[in-house]
Amino acid sequence: MENSRWLVASRPADGIVTGQNFRMETSPVPEIGEGEFLIEIAYSIVTPPLLMWLTTGGMGGKPLTPGSLMRCGGMGSIVKSNNPAWPVGQLVNGDLGWQKYAVSNGADKTPVVKVTRRDGVSTSALMHVLGSGGRTAYFGLTEFCRPKLGDTMVISGAAGNVGSILAQLARMQGCRVIGIAGSQRKCDWLTGELGCDGAINYKDGGLAEKLAALCPKGIDIFFDNVGGETLDAAMGQLAQGARVVLCGATSQYSHDSDWYAPKNYFNLVYKQATMSGFYVGNFAARYEEAVSRLAPMVVSGTLKYAEDIHDGLEKAPVALGNTLSGDHFGVQLVKISNVAD
Ligand SMILES: NC(=O)c1ccc[n+]([C@@H]2O[C@H](COP(=O)([O-])OP(=O)(O)OC[C@H]3O[C@@H](n4cnc5c(N)ncnc54)[C@H](OP(=O)(O)O)[C@@H]3O)[C@@H](O)[C@H]2O)c1
Repeated sequence: MENSRWLVASRPADGIVTGQNFRMETSPVPEIGEGEFLIEIAYSIVTPPLLMWLTTGGMGGKPLTPGSLMRCGGMGSIVKSNNPAWPVGQLVNGDLGWQKYAVSNGADKTPVVKVTRRDGVSTSALMHVLGSGGRTAYFGLTEFCRPKLGDTMVISGAAGNVGSILAQLARMQGCRVIGIAGSQRKCDWLTGELGCDGAINYKDGGLAEKLAALCPKGIDIFFDNVGGETLDAAMGQLAQGARVVLCGATSQYSHDSDWYAPKNYFNLVYKQATMSGFYVGNFAARYEEAVSRLAPMVVSGTLKYAEDIHDGLEKAPVALGNTLSGDHFGVQLVKISNVAD
């Protein structure tokens, strides 16, 4: 058995990720020591903040140096174990990297958590709608958006993993939801399939004017996944007492520094609005609450999602490029093996 791994080769020039930024290495599958277990990886989930491993290093981290394994969240199944608490067949989730096999001891060496299969939910959905994306949407909404019936909520990155779940949950709370996304197909999905009240393709230009037209009484809640000029345009349209909730800043992750600063920030004063950022990891003790609320909706089909799956580890750099260009539809996954099917 061989292990294949994508190693970092260079930093992306101008934040544009290409295959040249990585090199594939092949080596024997590692042996496991005492208390360790071997994970065969089934999926990698490719999300925008991966870019920060190549630029700033992200929250409290350092950028990866050339020769390092490319980091990435993934799910796999234990195929060999020297640890009775981690038996063969157990599904696990963690930062498994772009590789076929990983060795963990369940603690400090490649930390992972156990994942429970659920009837009526695919293994891959456990990673996004019942994983990080779903949890982020759920806690972002309940803890920070504080929605009221009839509120107008605008979501950027609305057709993405977090945004598409949030849009549906906010509709269920009685909000008017306007999604911002980067293609007509994504906008049609938001209004047609997910029930959004309106959608704007920001790539067509005129975002501020379009927001003003669709939100005549202003924006009560702006949930931001992308930052930059989109955040600025939304901040120019806030309603009295609005909540601006910062989840991500995908448009800025390619920059080492010099992030776009919103010119309309003083609207927070004029409108007595609040702006807060949050990190889903702070709700780890309550993840089961989110999953138990979302799971029945996934099983019944009330909560919809789309997946864009690339087959084979070799496609991982392409998948990352597509995630950053928006050239994909749905949660971007790389299927590495059938071990979790
Ligand atoms: N705070 C937290 O705890 C937390 C937790 C999870 C995720 N996040 C953040 O939440 C955000 C969304 O994550 P996700 O996993 O749901 O990703 P995602 O939205 O599914 O995927 C990325 C999407 O971002 C859009 N995008 C890419 N470049 C852009 C740009 N320059 N300007 C505007 N849009 C751009 C593209 O959509 P279009 O085609 O529509 O442009 C792309 O499809 C990310 O920034 C992530 O870092 C935060």
